[in-house]
Amino acid sequence: MAVTPKILAFAGSTRTESFNKKLVQIAIAGARAAGAEVTYLDLRDLPLPLFDQDLEAHEGLPPNGRRLKDLMLSHDGLLMSCPEYNSSVTGVWKNAIDWASRPVPGEPPLACFTGKVAAIMSASPGALGGLRGLVHVRSILGNINVLVIPDQIAIPKAHEAFGPDGRLKDAKQQAAVEAIGAKLTRTLAKLHA
Ligand SMILES: Cc1cc2nc3c(=O)[nH]c(=O)nc-3n(C[C@H](O)[C@H](O)[C@H](O)COP(=O)(O)O)c2cc1C
Repeated sequence: MAVTPKILAFAGSTRTESFNKKLVQIAIAGARAAGAEVTYLDLRDLPLPLFDQDLEAHEGLPPNGRRLKDLMLSHDGLLMSCPEYNSSVTGVWKNAIDWASRPVPGEPPLACFTGKVAAIMSASPGALGGLRGLVHVRSILGNINVLVIPDQIAIPKAHEAFGPDGRLKDAKQQAAVEAIGAKLTRTLAKLHA
């Protein structure tokens, strides 16, 4: 591989025992095994105020918004596991995307997103695994110039799905999640070859 793809990975949940944090770690392992350099971000470590256009007008981008944007700008791909809240995306995830989408002077529109490639997944205690939220995640990302690969997975009954080692108990599911990380890596490698 001529260029090592750089991937930023995070979950759309700040919860300590988040199933989506566990899930994205599995995809990260798949991406690393395929040759990617992956940075894991816990959104809890970058707390952001709720987006408020008056706040932005008076104070500009918050320091953690700048940090988030810099992380995104320095990576080629995004690997995200997004919980479903009320059939859609979580506020934490959307708030992060909204702040990152704001241009600062001298920056082209959607600088953090244009040209990025993403892979998405979800986990939920429910029967659909967060699948309905992923429809919205895919749509939002597509509309801000992110190429989202078709492969995705939603893990239902997440409270029963993970073993104490953080792996999925179902070997096929485990392999499928690792494969999504690997697919993102291979796609990025081809695009940047
Ligand atoms: C406000 C709220 C709304 C929720 N709505 C849904 C939902 O629409 N579908 C679903 O499958 N789970 C829903 N859940 C349950 C979440 O899937 C569950 O809390 C899950 O653990 C969140 O992901 P995490 O473990 O990564 O934090 C909801 C949870 C909350 C707090």
